[in-house]
Amino acid sequence: REKQIKSQFSVLEQANQFYQQQLRTSEQRQRAVDYLKQRGLTGQIAARFQVGYAPPGWDNLLTHLSSLDDAQSQLERTGLVIHNEERHRYYDRFRDRIMFPIRDMRGRTIGFGGRVLGDDKPKYLNSPETDTFHKGRELYGLYEARQHTGTLSRLLIVEGYMDVVSLAQHGITWSVATLGTATTASHLERLFKLVPEVIFCFDGDNAGRNAAKRALDTTLPVIKDGQQARFLFLPEGEDPDTLVRKEGEEAFTKRVAQALPLSEFFFKALSEDADLASMDGRARFSNQALPLIQSMQPSLLQQMMMDRICEITGLSLDQLNSVIDLHRATEP
Ligand code: CTP
Ligand code: MN
Ligand code: MN
Ligand code: MN
Ligand code: MN
Repeated sequence: REKQIKSQFSVLEQANQFYQQQLRTSEQRQRAVDYLKQRGLTGQIAARFQVGYAPPGWDNLLTHLSSLDDAQSQLERTGLVIHNEERHRYYDRFRDRIMFPIRDMRGRTIGFGGRVLGDDKPKYLNSPETDTFHKGRELYGLYEARQHTGTLSRLLIVEGYMDVVSLAQHGITWSVATLGTATTASHLERLFKLVPEVIFCFDGDNAGRNAAKRALDTTLPVIKDGQQARFLFLPEGEDPDTLVRKEGEEAFTKRVAQALPLSEFFFKALSEDADLASMDGRARFSNQALPLIQSMQPSLLQQMMMDRICEITGLSLDQLNSVIDLHRATEP
């Protein structure tokens, strides 16, 4: 099994080299190169992220790696090739797409994201879960961020591949992307081992704002004293890529400096669906806030957030705690 995993890494790296080589030499390369240029990327940044191109056609990768032992099933195990059971055919998963290799902390290629050159759907295709690729644990761009930033003191968490690459193009080399999934506790634990501060910066749309709320719920039980999480909200319709291209590095960094601390976002988000002017609203607010605050690690921040609930409700900590105990006792 150990040996099998090792050969999977090797297959993935050979595929990575193939896609990069196709971006330099394939007959259809010009469309891909034009696309990357149009998105504002230089060859240097593309090379740093090992961006590649999967040309059109059903079996370019299969043919290229056909000399491997047991090539079809090896490629299938890495998710690069799909097996059609009915027709007994194998074919390349990624066709006519810009390829973003996803690397682990040691720089080994573990999977890919592929983007169409136009507006076809699905816009992005990712490697499936395999022995080497676990979406809920990996972060795109983390390897590159560690390579290119002396000492990391904070990391920006964004949604997409292009956000990470485009930010790097503008000198912001400290961003990572979750891979089309929600931010998980395991992502955060990994990040907080490396830096004391993370800043969530999702797209300025409903999906992005909902992702921020979910990220808040995920962060609360994980964060410890000495660690900081903040939330940066972008103008409607923008994502980090479009915004940094429009405004440049300096303006973007200024926005980062103004990102909301976790506790501020917490109270702001909750007060949006409770009317704090009425007693009923304050009760509703507190009932929603208390279990979330209880989910936190014992910390100064937790204490201070409890104090804030005391201020809002006018109840003492003892009174709040006895309500919490009652809730616990009556829970099914
Ligand atoms: N994503 C995905 N599958 C999709 C759409 C999105 O896996 N069908 C993931 C990708 O990792 C993508 C990220 O979610 O990078 C952000 O999605 P989205 O904001 O929709 O991407 P765009 O910003 O629209 O992509 P681009 O800038 O490349 O047009
Ligand atoms: Mn078969
Ligand atoms: Mn979006
Ligand atoms: Mn985008
Ligand atoms: Mn986006």
